Amino acid sequence: MTRAISLHDVSKSYARGVRVVDRLSLDIVPGEFLVLLGPSGCGKSTVLRMIAGLEEIDEGELLLDGEYANDWQPSDRNIAMVFQNFALYPSMTSRDNIGFPLRIEAPGTDPRPRVDATARMLGIEDLLDRFPGQLSGGERQRVAMGRAIARHPSAFLMDEPLSNLDAKLRNHLRAEISQLTRELGVTTVYVTHDQAEAMSLGDRVAVLRGGVLQQVGSPREVYALPRNVFVAAFIGTPRINLLRGLVRAPLDGAMTISLGRQALRLPEPLSLDHRLLRVQQGREVIVGLRSEAVRIAKPAAARPGEVPISGLVEHVEFQGHEVLVHFNTGSSPAVVPELEAPRLSGRPARRRRREGPTVLDRLRERAGALRAGPVVVLEDPPDDGPAPVPPEGRLPGDLVVRTTPDIRLRHGMQVPLLVDIAHLFVFDQHGERICPSPARLPDLEE
Ligand SMILES: Nc1ncnc2c1ncn2[C@@H]1O[C@H](COP(=O)(O)OP(=O)(O)OP(=O)(O)O)[C@@H](O)[C@H]1O
Ligand SMILES: [Mg+2]
Repeated sequence: MTRAISLHDVSKSYARGVRVVDRLSLDIVPGEFLVLLGPSGCGKSTVLRMIAGLEEIDEGELLLDGEYANDWQPSDRNIAMVFQNFALYPSMTSRDNIGFPLRIEAPGTDPRPRVDATARMLGIEDLLDRFPGQLSGGERQRVAMGRAIARHPSAFLMDEPLSNLDAKLRNHLRAEISQLTRELGVTTVYVTHDQAEAMSLGDRVAVLRGGVLQQVGSPREVYALPRNVFVAAFIGTPRINLLRGLVRAPLDGAMTISLGRQALRLPEPLSLDHRLLRVQQGREVIVGLRSEAVRIAKPAAARPGEVPISGLVEHVEFQGHEVLVHFNTGSSPAVVPELEAPRLSGRPARRRRREGPTVLDRLRERAGALRAGPVVVLEDPPDDGPAPVPPEGRLPGDLVVRTTPDIRLRHGMQVPLLVDIAHLFVFDQHGERICPSPARLPDLEE
């Protein structure tokens, strides 16, 4: 048996009316693998705990197979939860740990056949007589999964089950979880803050920010048509380039988006999406370019839809199979405060403390205050003058481009670039996507 899980306008506050989950609506179909993705503290575990019945729902409805389930006891929900910290009983062997819920649910029934079948499925038969203290992290997590599976639940809720494991084991178990849940056909809600994990596992990914659902869609949809700057910046590595731009749409000339010292000239005839941008004339926007939307090539090599700019090499990041080149193009990056931390190096932290709050500290503070408000912070209107100094600690450059390792680039070289306008995103000042137009239906086969 597998379950449909629906949340309708579900809210939760812990203290002083601050909603940690804010009017969340999600319909998860039977057998679906849905990933809840978002930064730390955005309410992912709270959502999971409300579905499991471990946390009360303040407002809104939880429906299990269409039935109102807000007040069902956790034990009546037939849902199994797997946690990050394995949560095994240390004084019980793996066999007893897996069999424990079965003995509680059906006293008097021999749990051994089910335990053995589950152990075979997970390849942990030889671990059954060991205690948790005699198992590695990966093995413990397999036993914890076994305990969830043996119950034959109608849904799995998994709260960052792999985050305590090293990268190699995480990848391995990720593939196993994907295969297992598909074989069992059981509805799964999986929580993670790791976008790569979300993209590789989910049938759909639901992105949360400050307790508010930002977007839900297939991994392809959320990557190719992010609804706002937050989703665009949270999903994909390297992070999407976000540049502050100004739309110029003169009646008698080409339409451009000015990026500080340079401009993107929109190819003519203008596409419908670009014609719609005309209403932004004179307004500040945020231009989003994923690293694959820009390539290193001379203007003469431009294919239809590609427009030239140039960049000064600031930093070359060798990754083995590819190289990430950080260019300075003379534009100002747009700041998504909640997501800035990973780009900071450790070094400036101490200096910051002595010198008082930096721009970034202030932005973070403001982001905290805004929580579910606007995603992006634009401090001063851009001008066409020189680009401002990037915030302390940020890697140099405003545009990261992915290229092959055979291209030899040195710091300080001026390099011609081509921007593929078909892959251009434009967001308004509040961070909402305006190009491609939000009215456009996902047509991801193009
Ligand atoms: N029992 C509680 N009492 C008060 N506040 C709480 C409680 N549990 C969680 N919170 C707050 O609710 C917010 C959401 O917490 P939650 O654990 O759901 O986040 P999360 O997305 O799972 O984060 P993480 O990725 O760090 O696990 C946080 O701000 C947290 O501090
Ligand atoms: Mg959590």
